[in-house]
Amino acid sequence: MNSDLHPYPAIRSYVLRQSRATAAQERAIQELGPQFCVPYREVLPDWQVIFGRAAPCVLEVGFGMGHATAQIAKAKPDTDFICVEVHRPGIGALLARIESLGITNIRIVQHDVVAVMRSMIPPDYLSGCHVFFPDPWQKKRHHKRRLVQVPFLAELYRISRPDAYLYLASDWEDYAVWMLDELRKSGLWQIDGDDFCKPVAWRPSTSFEHKGLAKAHIIREIMAKKQP
Ligand SMILES: C[S@@+](CC[C@H](N)C(=O)[O-])C[C@H]1O[C@@H](n2cnc3c(N)ncnc32)[C@H](O)[C@@H]1O
Repeated sequence: MNSDLHPYPAIRSYVLRQSRATAAQERAIQELGPQFCVPYREVLPDWQVIFGRAAPCVLEVGFGMGHATAQIAKAKPDTDFICVEVHRPGIGALLARIESLGITNIRIVQHDVVAVMRSMIPPDYLSGCHVFFPDPWQKKRHHKRRLVQVPFLAELYRISRPDAYLYLASDWEDYAVWMLDELRKSGLWQIDGDDFCKPVAWRPSTSFEHKGLAKAHIIREIMAKKQP
C-alpha cells in the first residue's frame, strides 16, 4: 500500500479562493481564533487537553462556510470535531456560528488536511470522518487532484479507530462513482450496502449542496466502515 496520503503530494486538492473575509469574519478570527483554532504544527497535539475531555472525535474535511458543521456539532454535544479548511472567510464564518450557537466541541485547523492527517492526528484516534461535497475536479486531467483516493483512504484508515465510519457526499455523479471505486480499490473500508446510501437523518444540507441542487444534480451519499 502506498503510504503517501496523496499520489502527487505537490498537487493540492484545493485552490485558494480569492474572496476576502468580511469585517465580521475577521473579528471572529481575532476574538475567537485563539480559543477555537489550533495552529498547524508537525507535532502531535494532545487533543484531550485541547478539548478538555476524552470524547469520540470526528474529523471534518473542507467545511466551507461551516453551516452544516456547526449544526452537527450542536446536535452532538458528546462528540468532539476537528474541522479542517484552508479558506479564511470560512474559518471566520464557522467561528461566528460557534459563538452564536454557544458551541464548545469544535476546534479548527486552517491548513491542508493532507498534512494535518499526517502530522496532527494520532493512530487509531478518529471515530469518524465527514467529507461533504469535496471539490469535484471535473476535467479528466484534474482527477489526480481529487482528495478522496486510495492514499487518502489509507491514511484515514491509519488514524481511525476500529469502529470508525467515513461519510461522503457529492453532487457530482462522476466523483461519487469514483469514490465508490476508490473505496473498493483500497480494500480498507466496507461500503454500507456496497453502494450509495440514503441521507443520514442528522446531516444538514450544505452550501455547495444547494448549488448542486439548483443545477438539478443528484446528491449521492456513501457511508463506509473501517474494515477489521
Ligand atoms: C466544494 S467545497 C464544499 C464545502 C462544504 N463542505 C459544503 O458542502 O458547502 C470544498 C471545500 O474543501 C476545502 N478543501 C479542499 N481541499 C482541502 C484540503 N486538502 N485541506 C483542507 N480543505 C480543503 C476547500 O477550501 C473548500 O472550501
